[in-house]
Amino acid sequence: FEVNWDAEAAEKGGYEHFMIKEIYEQPKAVRETMSGRLAKDDSHIIFDELKWTPEEVAGINKIAIVACGTAYHAGIVGKYYLENLARIPVEVDVASEFRYRSPLVDDKTLVIVISQSGETLDTLAGLKEAKRLGARTLAITNVVGSSIAREADHVIYTWAGPEIAVASTKAYTTQLVTLCMLSIYVAALRETLAAAKVKELIQGLRDLPAQAHEILEDVEPIKTFAQQYGFNEDVFFIGRALDYCVALEGSLKLKEISYIHAEAYAAGELKHGTLALIIEGVPVIALATQPDVYEKMLSNIKEVKARDAVVIGIAMKGDDHIRNYVDHAIYIPDAHKYLAPLLAVIPLQLLAYYAAITRGCDVDKPRNLAKSVTVE
Ligand code: G6P
Repeated sequence: FEVNWDAEAAEKGGYEHFMIKEIYEQPKAVRETMSGRLAKDDSHIIFDELKWTPEEVAGINKIAIVACGTAYHAGIVGKYYLENLARIPVEVDVASEFRYRSPLVDDKTLVIVISQSGETLDTLAGLKEAKRLGARTLAITNVVGSSIAREADHVIYTWAGPEIAVASTKAYTTQLVTLCMLSIYVAALRETLAAAKVKELIQGLRDLPAQAHEILEDVEPIKTFAQQYGFNEDVFFIGRALDYCVALEGSLKLKEISYIHAEAYAAGELKHGTLALIIEGVPVIALATQPDVYEKMLSNIKEVKARDAVVIGIAMKGDDHIRNYVDHAIYIPDAHKYLAPLLAVIPLQLLAYYAAITRGCDVDKPRNLAKSVTVE
């Protein structure tokens, strides 16, 4: 009598794969990660696990973020948040580079390690190296009592719930929400953010679960694109500013589970090489959610259209203008520009998922990859 199959099916809760279940769990995961951490009047962020003082934070002159894979991509967004909101210089490294490059880290550095599992060997080693150099350390992780949680001076847990699929989805969005809350928290201690801006961001955070849910309610267009373009061998993702960060994650998702060669480029960098690869029919996913660089992004879209690429634009609802430039537009709800990455990544996760299905790939367990890499 074999019960395993039933047990696994039950765990998937009616979904065909863990990945799609976890994509759909994002509104809840994001809501739980924020739970108890947003002040009722939206005036500040509460981190009982930190209880940092302005004096303590004044002693930090640099932040180094260290992580691998998807967590590293969250870290790049974190740099953007921390530098823009809290005005502290931030560097981001993949852990396997950080640990061997004699980083300039000392007791005035805050090292933030990000790890869903809390067990990634390179990230743990990076954390130990940071401690050896005298840094203060903070872990953002999803697993209570994990090795990384135990090793760090401070821990903030993401409350995403267990993530089973190798390709990370809800861990990423909860890491982003955590990094945003942390940046607002540090900004308050450093007095770098006006009260009105804090309020606007916290209100934006509160809107996220419903907005994520809205995207998940209508996935048919994304499914269609995946079926249409799922057999292409190369796909390019382009964006500027925070959209570039999301492009990196979208491209990783696609290559991990569908084995399509995918590359992400900062859109302004296209002309320095990648444009040579853009030929007729090549799919380009162009993210255009960032108002500050919107016009520049349209110029980049024109550059790839001029080479007859097929462009799928990801834009904010209400942006009808973009339809004049792209072949297909996918809309995300109108969000605060800093929070757009949390929404823009969802269509890209879905695109990767349905492309993998179209190609008959083993979505939850892609070849050669492991959920948690505990060897070097
Ligand atoms: C592996 C997983 C990725 C993950 C990375 C970092 O490569 O396949 O999905 O992003 O490890 O894992 P961590 O648990 O440290 O976030």
